[in-house]
Amino acid sequence: MHTIHQFGGNWTQEKLERLQKYLRAYMNIFTANPWARRYTTYYVDAFAGTGSRTSPDSSPASTLSLFADQEDMKEVKRFYDGSAQIALELDPPFKRYVFIESNPQFTEELRKLKARFEDRNVQIVPQDSNRFLQEWRHSMNWQHSRAVVFLDPYGMAVDWETI
Ligand SMILES: C[S@@+](CC[C@H](N)C(=O)[O-])C[C@H]1O[C@@H](n2cnc3c(N)ncnc32)[C@H](O)[C@@H]1O
Repeated sequence: MHTIHQFGGNWTQEKLERLQKYLRAYMNIFTANPWARRYTTYYVDAFAGTGSRTSPDSSPASTLSLFADQEDMKEVKRFYDGSAQIALELDPPFKRYVFIESNPQFTEELRKLKARFEDRNVQIVPQDSNRFLQEWRHSMNWQHSRAVVFLDPYGMAVDWETI
């Protein structure tokens, strides 16, 4: 059974398409440019979710008339790629992935996602992202590393200190 993570609207789709374009361009530069290629690239998804999402637009209510005889209305929900999956599917990929997520049910989904991408180096961090990021940035060697940190919280979950 897939954990349903429903959030956002049309703007979410647009946001994720822009993220995908940005990450593709970033990794093309860090692969093609001999100077940039030296770096270990990190994609950090600080509010990673489950790796997929359902849109309120695809909720049973909006498809009710088409599937009125279906017993389990959850079946009609459509799953779309979330930011973590979009990042894992990149080619060329990042060298390292860090997915931070505080909801235990969601981290379980992230573990399943990680298992589907065996060739990617993925760390799942089941913690508060503010606390983790503020320590992580000091633990990194920025002479050899570069990172994209994607902050996609609900509401105001990002502390000023983190930014
Ligand atoms: C808007 S959703 C992220 C969606 C994700 N970017 C995607 O495209 O699928 C925000 C996520 O942040 C998680 N979250 C909320 N507060 C958090 C915190 N302090 N630390 C880590 N994760 C948190 C929630 O459980 C939720 O999964």
